[in-house]
Amino acid sequence: MQTLQEKASEWSGVDHEDAFAIDQTNLYQKLGLQTFINLSTDFYTRVYEDEEEWFRSIFADSKKEDAIQNQYEFFVQRMGGPPLFSQRRGHPALIGRHRPFDVTHKAAERWLHHMQQALDNATDIDQDSKTRMLNFFRHTAYFLVAGNDLKNQSQGAPPCKHAAIKTAPE
Ligand code: HEM
Repeated sequence: MQTLQEKASEWSGVDHEDAFAIDQTNLYQKLGLQTFINLSTDFYTRVYEDEEEWFRSIFADSKKEDAIQNQYEFFVQRMGGPPLFSQRRGHPALIGRHRPFDVTHKAAERWLHHMQQALDNATDIDQDSKTRMLNFFRHTAYFLVAGNDLKNQSQGAPPCKHAAIKTAPE
């Protein structure tokens, strides 16, 4: 059976090595805290103003400022900076934290669309860092889609005949 990581590679088109090229350099040291704050602010401004209501509504229960902080603290921590996210929120456990949301292929593409635009717009990030980040984001997005699929299989699968309970005739 394919692991979630393997599914993520297949669906995203990003192999494992490219996805984790963020670990071959310290992007936090290179870019600094403010750059990550700027990126997440730009990204979530696009998300919260998305003309696609179905996507915007996925974020309806979160305050924009909180979503921004959660995201940049995770990015900082994952890309070589201090563990800001874990200090405040605990273990990232990304699949578990996305459990309440419908993370479909379509949602992943929309998320990536906004992140691509935010990266294109970022004048404080060099091209090499942008490529590493986007590959990581793409792979992670599809890792979450794979996790979402698993959730749907274990919760929403229709009862199968093989496991039906037969009541004894009275
Ligand atoms: C694939 C499409 C995705 C969807 C639909 C999605 C949706 C969401 C939503 C609705 C939230 C709640 C906002 C908040 O209160 O913080 C969230 C949080 C978060 N997401 Fe995603 N996300 C996606 C992809 C990603 C990716 C690719 C990453 C990482 C690279 C990521 C990292 C996070 C983090 C760190 C949080 C904060 C969790 C917390 O603090 O509880 N997400 N996401």
